[in-house]
Amino acid sequence: MKTFTSVKDLGDLNAALKEAFEIKKNRFAYKALGENKTLLMVFFNSSLRTRLSTQKAAMNLGMNTMVLDVNQGAWRLETERGVIMDGDKSEHILEAIPVMGSYCDVIGVRSFAQFENKQDDYKEKILNQFIQLSGRPVFSMESAIVHPLQAFADLITIEEYKTKARPKVVLSWAPHPRVLPQAVPNSFADFMNEADVDFVITHPEGYELDPQFVRGAPIEYNQEKAFKGADFIYAKNWSACQDEHYGQILSKDRSWTVDTEKMQGTNNAFFMHCLPVRRNMIVTDEVIESPQSIVIPEAANREISCEVVLKRILESL
Ligand code: CP
Repeated sequence: MKTFTSVKDLGDLNAALKEAFEIKKNRFAYKALGENKTLLMVFFNSSLRTRLSTQKAAMNLGMNTMVLDVNQGAWRLETERGVIMDGDKSEHILEAIPVMGSYCDVIGVRSFAQFENKQDDYKEKILNQFIQLSGRPVFSMESAIVHPLQAFADLITIEEYKTKARPKVVLSWAPHPRVLPQAVPNSFADFMNEADVDFVITHPEGYELDPQFVRGAPIEYNQEKAFKGADFIYAKNWSACQDEHYGQILSKDRSWTVDTEKMQGTNNAFFMHCLPVRRNMIVTDEVIESPQSIVIPEAANREISCEVVLKRILESL
């Protein structure tokens, strides 16, 4: 594996899940694989889970890790070619990326959407420059439009908790005070569309996700109807994706907050969220603290999803 941005990079999804569960039984089984290999994690944005779980996965595999917070302690980077660099940006990403590549064997990149225009974000400009210029395998640690390590961990969690062969999984938009990217719901849809689940998306009108990720999955604009018979509720906020409203907040309607009454309309569903979560905006205290909430094991599985990805990258070096 040379890049990881999509479910397709995993190939056979059942084989990837089998590998994940084997690794979970003995996460140090491949410790020799990463000996004398260095992972560089580059963060353009904040993180708790990705930072820690990726570092832990790399350590499980015997790798050395380096972390660069681009906005704290590094030179400010210019990302556009042709710019006259007479401002506060001291270094161009076109030099910085190959330099970073010269110090490591594998690179993980976190770089959120800029929300200036959809085309630029959906081209994954920063991530793709790392892929093209670093000379190293590169994986997304949440980039402008995808978060595949999260979605793979979500699928592992669903596999662990499901009580029927083909569970109903509902991705539900929920309100949030700030503009958030579509990366998590995009990758969740990307994975669910390939998994053995009945996948339904629910959101207010105007919050349609990009068709390349929805891929014909049913959209139900009535949240209560969507929740009927659900085995898993995956709540997430995202900003509008349509060209004319790209990156805008169209609604903060708290009638979409996941509460106990709504969960009672499901098939005793498990509650999932990628975290961090805004309590009593996305989900009530009662639901996230209930026995059906699996947000903590879901976050713990980030270590496992990342270890599978890093193992496959190391095997390809
Ligand atoms: N879910 C997730 O990616 O969390 P962080 O932003 O804390 O890494």
